[in-house]
Amino acid sequence: ITPPVITIDGPSGSGKGTIAHRLALALGFHVLDSGALYRLLALAAQQHGIQTHNEAALEVLAAHLDVQFQNNHGEAMLILEGEDVTESIRTEEIGAAASKVAALARVRTALLQRQHAFREMPGLVADGRDMGTVVFPDACLKIFLTASADARAERRYKQLLEKGFDASLAAILDDIRARDLRDSQRAVAPLKPATDAIVLDSTALGIEAVLQTVIAAAKQRR
Ligand code: C5P
Repeated sequence: ITPPVITIDGPSGSGKGTIAHRLALALGFHVLDSGALYRLLALAAQQHGIQTHNEAALEVLAAHLDVQFQNNHGEAMLILEGEDVTESIRTEEIGAAASKVAALARVRTALLQRQHAFREMPGLVADGRDMGTVVFPDACLKIFLTASADARAERRYKQLLEKGFDASLAAILDDIRARDLRDSQRAVAPLKPATDAIVLDSTALGIEAVLQTVIAAAKQRR
């Protein structure tokens, strides 16, 4: 039997990472943070001097990307070519570069198999932009989580400050708007809800209420 998958898609800062992580904990499922894959690729490209528009070189790099997702006391630890990059892939600079390499069709195809490999028993919670539309179209539950650009910028700003990064709220808001535009208007796997997705807005609801709604929906589908 194929392990069940629950997909959580949405723009950056909508809270999908937190929701995916906590839902997986509640169900005892594995987690796939697909955005981290694009961030890892962007960082690897930077380190190897490959430009974000060099599709042929990026496709090869994506196919051979040497990454490990390790579980460090319940927290995901990301290893790129033997180096711990858990924190360094979270900068706005790498986020912007990730959204550029993610717009390339051959890069997305090269990363498909790697994402499918996360589907293991007892199940998977997959978070990203195209989890319900492209990567796991047969998911048993699809959530599309949004929030206003302002709310998302503020969350990201607080996260960065907590992690000790220097940040500007205005710059983050600009960056979020640019990234939204690029992610939703690109030709391949654009950010959009699957036709069978449940759309939730965390701006007014708040993360806790969203989590409870999603857990209830997940239990109903089983
Ligand atoms: O979610 P996160 O901000 O870490 O993702 C970084 C970038 O990777 C996004 O802006 C998006 O362009 C890309 N991405 C994607 N498809 C996914 C996950 C992320 O294109 N499934």
